[in-house]
Amino acid sequence: MLAAKNSRAGVYICGSYFNKKMLNFFKKATRKKESLIAESKSKGRATFHTLKVQDITRETEDCVSVAFEVPEDLQQAYTFLPGQYLTLEADIEGETVRRSYSLCSSPVDGELRVAIKKVEQGAFSSWANTKLTVGTEMRVMTPEGNFCIKPESGAQRNYVAFAAGSGITPVYSIMKSVLELEAGSTFTLFYGNQTSKTVIFRDKIDGLKSKYMDRLEVHHVLSREDQGTDYLKGRIDEAKCFAFADRFFDPKEIDAYFLCGPEAMINCVSESLKKLNVSKDKIHYELFTSPAQSLAHKTKASAENKESSMQSAITVILDGDETHFDLKAGGDSILDAALDAGADVPYACKGAVCCTCRAKVIEGAVEMDMNYALEDDEVEDGYVLTCQSHPTTERVVVSYDE
Ligand code: FES
Repeated sequence: MLAAKNSRAGVYICGSYFNKKMLNFFKKATRKKESLIAESKSKGRATFHTLKVQDITRETEDCVSVAFEVPEDLQQAYTFLPGQYLTLEADIEGETVRRSYSLCSSPVDGELRVAIKKVEQGAFSSWANTKLTVGTEMRVMTPEGNFCIKPESGAQRNYVAFAAGSGITPVYSIMKSVLELEAGSTFTLFYGNQTSKTVIFRDKIDGLKSKYMDRLEVHHVLSREDQGTDYLKGRIDEAKCFAFADRFFDPKEIDAYFLCGPEAMINCVSESLKKLNVSKDKIHYELFTSPAQSLAHKTKASAENKESSMQSAITVILDGDETHFDLKAGGDSILDAALDAGADVPYACKGAVCCTCRAKVIEGAVEMDMNYALEDDEVEDGYVLTCQSHPTTERVVVSYDE
């Protein structure tokens, strides 16, 4: 029982004297973390805030997870749905570098944590894996992303996920949230890696398996390690998808599929599922693409666009302010041109993957080079990725406020 009595410089608790600093520590240590679950995936336009790194945990030799301290007044802004991501911005060796990473915590953990796997020549990921320390401050964008789920406590659904490598990050958040919040739902995970040593969150996944034995099934597929069965050795491909559907799940019984990993795996699994008569609307995916791949696609698409020499008058609306500029149809993207014109428009990957640059075309028309992020219904409603958009009419108005 707590007996508290205010005094000028401190507070008595159970007969002991605590000064303010000690009291705050006590409150922090005993306070149950509040859930960070969002009401919906969109809470308005994403904005950056400076947050402090609270914890860094090494998950594998080349992957760390990083948790941020969220001040009381920003808790609402950083609520999220399982599967969403954060865009981080840091100054690394004199350069401002911006990257997006999926949240690996579940909102029920009350923690904002991303996983960062070191990639070859990745400036941000190398820095985060070797130099980042607890207490560092960096700019963190509020959570974004369409690859997510809103768990419902009364739901009785069956989910299947295919993940490869760091593609487990959003899938782990979705899986944990489903198991914790939907007591009647089941989850089956197929997780591809090279060896058991490179399996991210292995212990955490095992922990979930012991806790939810009757509702969670996990199958590790390893390309460079023999597990004694042919169908669990190699990469996740069409033959494996068919074998898994034969042994571990009935496509007719599955409500949703979540795919996350490299483009080749996503294409292969989603084509295989379609051959198993799974409808497109049940297949959700998030691409972890490399900038090189994006560039290759972009160059091809832009080359086709370059034939047009039409000049368009563009208006960009952001926070109610308008920025005007002219743009050649086959030239820069609307996002790049808007940045050049001084508008502080949001972006992260510039590769059609993250969705941060989403805006609505409210007058005129544009053409996108690529789109791996927007859902079909969003495109129908006029939303575009401005990092991929080029004008096709003489006047275009896009709004980031819609
Ligand atoms: S900035 Fe990521 S999709 Fe445009």
